[in-house]
Amino acid sequence: MSGKGRVKVGVIGSQFAADIHAEAFRLMPDEAEVVAVASPTPGHAEKLAKKHDIPRVFTDYKQMLAEDDIEMVTIAAPNYLHARMTIDAANAGKHVVCEKPLCMTLEEADLMIETCKRKGVLLMYAEELFFAPKYVRAKQMADDGAFGKVYMVKQSEKHFGPHASWFWDVEQSGGGVFTDMGCHGIAFCYWFLDRPQIKSVYCQMATHVHGNKTRGEDNSICILEFADGAVGVVENSWARRGGMDDRIEVYGQGGVTYANLLMGNALPTYSEYGYGYAVEKAPATKGWTYPVFEELWNYGFPQEMHHFARCVRGKEEPQATGEDGRIVQEVLYAGYQSAGTGRKVDLPFRPEGVKIPIELWLNRNSQA
Ligand SMILES: NC(=O)c1ccc[n+]([C@@H]2O[C@H](COP(=O)([O-])OP(=O)(O)OC[C@H]3O[C@@H](n4cnc5c(N)ncnc54)[C@H](O)[C@@H]3O)[C@@H](O)[C@H]2O)c1
Repeated sequence: MSGKGRVKVGVIGSQFAADIHAEAFRLMPDEAEVVAVASPTPGHAEKLAKKHDIPRVFTDYKQMLAEDDIEMVTIAAPNYLHARMTIDAANAGKHVVCEKPLCMTLEEADLMIETCKRKGVLLMYAEELFFAPKYVRAKQMADDGAFGKVYMVKQSEKHFGPHASWFWDVEQSGGGVFTDMGCHGIAFCYWFLDRPQIKSVYCQMATHVHGNKTRGEDNSICILEFADGAVGVVENSWARRGGMDDRIEVYGQGGVTYANLLMGNALPTYSEYGYGYAVEKAPATKGWTYPVFEELWNYGFPQEMHHFARCVRGKEEPQATGEDGRIVQEVLYAGYQSAGTGRKVDLPFRPEGVKIPIELWLNRNSQA
């Protein structure tokens, strides 16, 4: 490894998140370049490589890890593969950027963190909301004292369900919308409030519209109690029609701010005929729609990858780490347990032998 110049990156995966990763590096190219992509389905890695001018293509990510010059890999594969891939990458001496959620179980989270430490590589957690400009602005104001003591932070992310079949299979995803998008809100509240200890988790969830295709929940509400008295509220849905919605509310003793990441940045638009693309997962573009612009930038993806590359060069300290991902994982466990029992769950909450977090909800349901 050169340790100089632009960080050479290998992307694992070739579809939705992998495309975002490759585009994010292209948008902020001064610190890193994607030199390889690995994905098992024949033709898929080639397609992504062609789109983003990526010179090397692999069907087996382990072959990509054998490339000496690659310094950092980004993992954009299904959740159940995150731990295995992270450990393989760390053992090959590569720094790791792992997509959310960090993994499936707390044992995996521990092993990922421990292996990366032992191998002397960084484990960076791809939580882009820490880098979303509008949310960063809200945090700056909070840190400047604009709202006095912040007593409640809300984050919600909702759409009508994911694009790929593995998300709906809880054995591969670990759970439904609480896992898939609740992980963003949990991380967001924790980060926004400067990572106070989490005292308890209360959660309600149900499957309202997608019971024919998944055992996972498609709607969830989660309340986090922090040791400093503040509360986090995380609302998620795969049952909400009309394309992606992502927003926050921040309440302090001396003020309040609201931020709507997509509709709030969009062009209120009416079209009789429709047009190409409005926003992630919007089903149609006829009639009234809210087309976004600079979508990846507004989410913070390029800024996130730029930051991670700078961390590899020792220019910055990681702002989103494996430890953040592990806290989120513990809250996911506690949330499913809470929804299963109908009770608030105190942290620390580390039941052993959990295979997939959602079983803490599904098993209770079947006993009821
Ligand atoms: N940060 C975000 O906002 C965000 C958005 C979307 C997805 N994600 C996360 O990114 C990850 C991928 O999700 P996605 O939407 O891209 O899914 P996807 O189904 O669109 O793509 C998954 C990719 O993983 C690849 N893959 C599967 N097995 C593999 C293997 N053994 N080796 C290498 N590649 C393999 C598939 O071929 C495919 O290219 C998930 O963990 C998801 O939660 C994060």
